[in-house]
Amino acid sequence: MSSLLVDNIGELVTNVPAAGGDGPLGLRRGVALLVEAGRVVWIGPARYAPAADRRIDAEGGAVLPGFVDSHAHLVFAGDRAAEFAARMAGEPYTGGGIRTTVGATRAASDDDLRDTVHRLRDEAMRQGTTTMEIKSGYGLTVADEARSLRIAAEVTAETTFLGAHVVPAEYAGRPDDYVGLVCGPMLTAAAPYARWVDVFCERGAFDADHTRAILTVGQAAGLGLRLHANQLGPGPGVRLGVELGAASVDHCTHLSDVDVDALAGSATTTDPTVATLLPGAEFSTRSPYPDARRLLDAGVTVALATDCNPGSSYTSSMPFCVALAVREMRMTPAEAVWAATAGGARALRRTDVGALRPGVRADLMILDAPSHLHLAYRPGVPLVRQVLHNGVPQCR
Ligand code: NIG
Ligand code: FE
Repeated sequence: MSSLLVDNIGELVTNVPAAGGDGPLGLRRGVALLVEAGRVVWIGPARYAPAADRRIDAEGGAVLPGFVDSHAHLVFAGDRAAEFAARMAGEPYTGGGIRTTVGATRAASDDDLRDTVHRLRDEAMRQGTTTMEIKSGYGLTVADEARSLRIAAEVTAETTFLGAHVVPAEYAGRPDDYVGLVCGPMLTAAAPYARWVDVFCERGAFDADHTRAILTVGQAAGLGLRLHANQLGPGPGVRLGVELGAASVDHCTHLSDVDVDALAGSATTTDPTVATLLPGAEFSTRSPYPDARRLLDAGVTVALATDCNPGSSYTSSMPFCVALAVREMRMTPAEAVWAATAGGARALRRTDVGALRPGVRADLMILDAPSHLHLAYRPGVPLVRQVLHNGVPQCR
């Protein structure tokens, strides 16, 4: 069996504090890491490193778990650059542009959609992302939602059925009929390709009753639950997500004390509901950022993700989100790096990614910088020098 040793590591972020590291990131120095059959099999003092078939010299760079981007919408066609320009000139973001992308997506060929998914997945990987959740939600017919998920499933196991993104134009004024479609034939067609079900629970999208109905039948079909909640204004989404045991409630921009208490209460249970913050969306819609400090101080488990989509957040860059979280959301660099790796893993209920210890998948990045601090300290600089995914070095 071929083995690969990563050594000359400046700083290893393990996210395993109990294993002798210091701080929540479980930082270790002077260690090397051995990979076999796509898994980490050994981490220990570099001077005791076992012989290996191949070696990667980290050249004193920091080594981190690959980013876990737990929220992205990659199956779409077209772009909405003009809508972005209008927002920067003062127009508000309402989510109304989703229907523009739905039209373009329905008209696209499978290969066009596939090319976009691969292009963005590769772009994310070059920036350190080794696990990526991908949602449907720009098809909104039975056939287009099923094909969106089928294409997403070609590149990730973390696929999410978001038929309840908005009510499409042909169902205008008939939301109950559309929810019936989502809960019936659309779910049946989508479920074989999906691990999760998601709803955009927001004024102008789906209300609490519709959201509950969709999540309940999705769960009965074997799907895990996640939610778009409290993005554009206050609402019932976060509390509903916690009540139903969702793995994650995402956005969390407009929270009441009751919402924060619900998330904090869930954090002490065996399967907490994670608050996934998406600062790329606030950046690209010129909106106030969510209050990460308030959530962290209350004990809530926080994840960071890109929300990569052509409307509200057209970035695949987790380093950019880490930098925004530190500068604009009062997260420490360590909290932001943890949220972008271990936090994302928790939001996807995964224990095999988001940390580096023997037994996990060998998903990691090597930085052109000596510590994780540089991800926020050097914003916009392409610091990711090498990525291993399932133990395989990715071409740069
Ligand atoms: O997460 N909020 C709903 N969905 C996306 C935006 C989609 C779009 O504008 O195309 C989001 O921000
Ligand atoms: Fe989203």
